[in-house]
This record gives sequence, structure tokens and C-alpha cells, in this order.
Amino acid sequence: MRILMMLAVGMTVIPLAWSAPAGAGNEAEVAEHLIELVKIGRGIVSEQMQNINDPSKADKGFTGNYMSRQVLERFKEATKLDLRIPNVVPQANLYLALVQVEKEVVDQAQPVINKAGISFKGFIPVVFARRVGEQFYKKSGVRVKLTAIDYRNANNKPDDFETEVLRMFSDPRHPKGQSYVRSTMVDGRPVLRMIDPEYAATTCLACHGAPKGARDVTGMRKEGLKEGDLAGAISIVLPLK
Ligand code: HEC
Repeated sequence: MRILMMLAVGMTVIPLAWSAPAGAGNEAEVAEHLIELVKIGRGIVSEQMQNINDPSKADKGFTGNYMSRQVLERFKEATKLDLRIPNVVPQANLYLALVQVEKEVVDQAQPVINKAGISFKGFIPVVFARRVGEQFYKKSGVRVKLTAIDYRNANNKPDDFETEVLRMFSDPRHPKGQSYVRSTMVDGRPVLRMIDPEYAATTCLACHGAPKGARDVTGMRKEGLKEGDLAGAISIVLPLK
């Protein structure tokens, strides 16, 4: 993930070389790792969609334990950090708390996932990610959220800061894929905010694609996105010591 530090003065956003106090780099890395863990979990749900929505069987074998094992395995492949040997990984407890929440969200969904006789069950990657974000916030005080200007779920509504950054992301001059990081204050407390843009892939278009306004399989109205359009962002608010 490429990162650019920015300093926002009023509504003008001025690019800034990394000049935050020592240690801030580590905090950006923590935010990146948390985003990675959410993306990995969401990818696993995505792989399971056909299995989850198979009306011909009850037990899908897609359990919380499967989720946490796979997340740990893939996180190690992606980052070389093995959370199964937590004492050598800085901030391992925070990461493991997130993996635990990912496990719990899949466990809570078992009655839905394992229902025979219905195909589409509504347990989709974005719903998984929202529930993980909500439950992780309660446990850790760290906010992880999917958001978009044209949001569907009220809990994903962008705040003013997120709206400003999403607008910047949708400007064609913004380098594609570049996330935004800034140390700032929220409710009078210092935080690190990282916002990572997400673009529509072909797999998203069944629900977010054309024709705009038509109903998707979830019964909601499609946004009319094309492949490669900005679909939204993952936003993190990480309290600083
Ligand atoms: C099966 C239909 C479906 C597919 C496929 C799908 N989404 Fe969504 N998306 C939804 C629904 C429904 C919501 C609202 C989820 C909730 O309740 O939090 C949503 C919400 C979102 C949000 C959060 C903002 C909001 O609108 O609430 C983002 C960002 C997003 N989707 C991006 C994507 C991307 C990127 C892809 C492809 C990788 C994708 N979606 C694939 C149905 C879908």
C-alpha cells in the first residue's frame, strides 16, 4: 500500500513529507495491518459465497475456526508476521483481537449460513466487514469502517473528514490506489486516520454496477459503477497514546 502524508489546511490539502514524531511510522503500519486483516477476512467470505448460498446442503463447514486459521495463515504470507508466535510481533494483541472478532462474526452467522433450502442469505463480504468493524470498535476503541459517499448502510455514512478524502480520491488527479494518512484529533484526543480507497472490480458490478437504480440481489438500488470506478474506502481511526 502506498502512503502519502498530507496536511489539510481548511479545505486545501497540501502534500507533506513524513515528518510526524518518531513512532508515528509504526502507527501507520499498525493501521495498514488492521486494514490487511479486514481485507483478508472479507476475501475469505467472498471465496465462500457459492458455498454459503448453496440451497442443497445445510452444514457448510465454513466456521469461525476456519476463518481465523485462514486469516492467520494468509496474514503471514502477506506480511511475514506470524501471529501464532505473538511474542515476536509488535501489537500482536491488537491484531489477534481483530482476528478473534472475525471468528466471532462467522460463528454468529452459523444459523444463517447453515440453513438449507434458501440460496441468497445476505451474508456477503461487505456485511461481514461492517459487523467486524462494529464489534472490534466495542472491544478495542479502534474504528475500522467501510464507507462511501453514496452509502447504503447508515452505519457506513462518511464523517466530514471521510467525505473530504473520498472526494479527493474521486478526483482523476489522485493517484489510483494511494491511501491517505493523517495524525489529527477526534473528540479532543490524538488519533491516526488512514483511508484506503477501494475500486469496483467486475465481481462488484452485479450489485453496484449498471443500470443505475435497478435492484440488485439484496433488493437495494445499484449505483451504476463501472469497473475501476471508486467504490468507497476502508477508514481507520487509531487512537494514539
Ligand atoms: C451481493 C451484492 C454486493 C456485491 C457483490 C458487492 N456489494 Fe458492496 N454493498 C452491498 C450491500 C448490500 C452493502 C450495504 C452493506 C451493509 O449493510 O453494511 C454494500 C456496501 C458497500 C460499501 C460500504 C458503503 C455502503 O454503501 O454502505 C462499499 C465500500 C462497497 N459495498 C464496496 C463494494 C466493492 C468494492 C465490491 C466488490 C469487491 C462490492 N461492494 C460488492 C452489496 C454488494
